[in-house]
Amino acid sequence: MKAIVYERYGLPEVLEMREVEIPVLGDRDVLIRLEAASVNRSDWEGLIGKPLYARMKGLRRPRRPILGSDVAGRVEEVGSAVDSFRPGDEVFGDVMHHGGSAFAEYVRVPETAPIVHKPATVTFAEASTLPQAALIALQGTLGRIEPGDQVLVNGAGGGAGAFAVQMAKADGAEVTGVDNGLKQEFMRSLGADHVLDYTRTDYTKTDTGYDLILDLVCERSMFAIRRAVAPGGHYAAVGGTTRALLSAATVGRLLSTGGRRIGVLMVRPNKEDLLRVADMVVAGTLHTNIERTYPLDGVPEALRHLGEGCALGKLVVEIA
Ligand SMILES: NC(=O)c1ccc[n+]([C@@H]2O[C@H](COP(=O)([O-])OP(=O)(O)OC[C@H]3O[C@@H](n4cnc5c(N)ncnc54)[C@H](OP(=O)(O)O)[C@@H]3O)[C@@H](O)[C@H]2O)c1
Repeated sequence: MKAIVYERYGLPEVLEMREVEIPVLGDRDVLIRLEAASVNRSDWEGLIGKPLYARMKGLRRPRRPILGSDVAGRVEEVGSAVDSFRPGDEVFGDVMHHGGSAFAEYVRVPETAPIVHKPATVTFAEASTLPQAALIALQGTLGRIEPGDQVLVNGAGGGAGAFAVQMAKADGAEVTGVDNGLKQEFMRSLGADHVLDYTRTDYTKTDTGYDLILDLVCERSMFAIRRAVAPGGHYAAVGGTTRALLSAATVGRLLSTGGRRIGVLMVRPNKEDLLRVADMVVAGTLHTNIERTYPLDGVPEALRHLGEGCALGKLVVEIA
């Protein structure tokens, strides 16, 4: 099969298209022929090897030679002990923690991986945008918002942020989106009531107390962040520098006073949440915002577009 492979951390030039073996199926495995894969910040981080946590599976050189986590495609073959999928089924999900990689023609995952049937009215490209980004947004907002709450999404113009703004609005919040100057109109189009350009305004100095801050690019001090959290409010760091995330997990806990909860959100990919976000797309309450699509050999260009800070919402690789 064709796959986009890399052997050392670096810029997109280190990626190349190669012929590699199609994974061999075990009794409990499913082989998926990919139609689409979406690009996430985590792929960029895995490519350049930064922040440090991106090297967890290979300190000096990448041990997983094919990047990509979010897939949508058709089941090609199933192992003899598989009973929830059949060849021809249309599926989507997150393969990263199950030995799989997305920027290839086929992927093999165990039946128990967070892979589910794709609703017929959702395209493969749309479905591929959901696994990582929409689950971050869902688990970052679900059960944490009351109507009228002030919610701030830091990194609202990116993949997870674009979903989080929509979900917070659907829950009745007044939403502030923070991202770079190029993404202000895009955040408004998602429903953000207020938008801030992070290159000009520090949201921790705006005198607003937020009931929920979902931080996709944590980099500020926890003391500054605490000032921006309303009493009883919640701050969840999702991505960012290793130092800031460690600080959120440790200093954040110490600063969790006055009913405030400050910490890190560890997202758990699972089948139930995948079905839940797919249902929102079917119902028309969640839009996938695909900015551009690329062919498989366009993965380096897609990653460069994301890494240069230009991507609005999601980028998708169409493989079939
Ligand atoms: N905690 C978990 O369990 C978990 C699970 C999966 C993924 N993650 C992490 O989640 C993070 C977010 O993913 P994503 O796919 O949504 O990323 P993304 O699509 O790149 O979106 C991030 C957005 O934040 C913007 N941004 C950059 N610096 C900023 C700043 N200082 N202030 C405000 N906005 C800023 C980016 O704009 P520019 O274009 O200007 O850079 C971009 O629009 C990644 O770091 C990923 O590793 C965490």
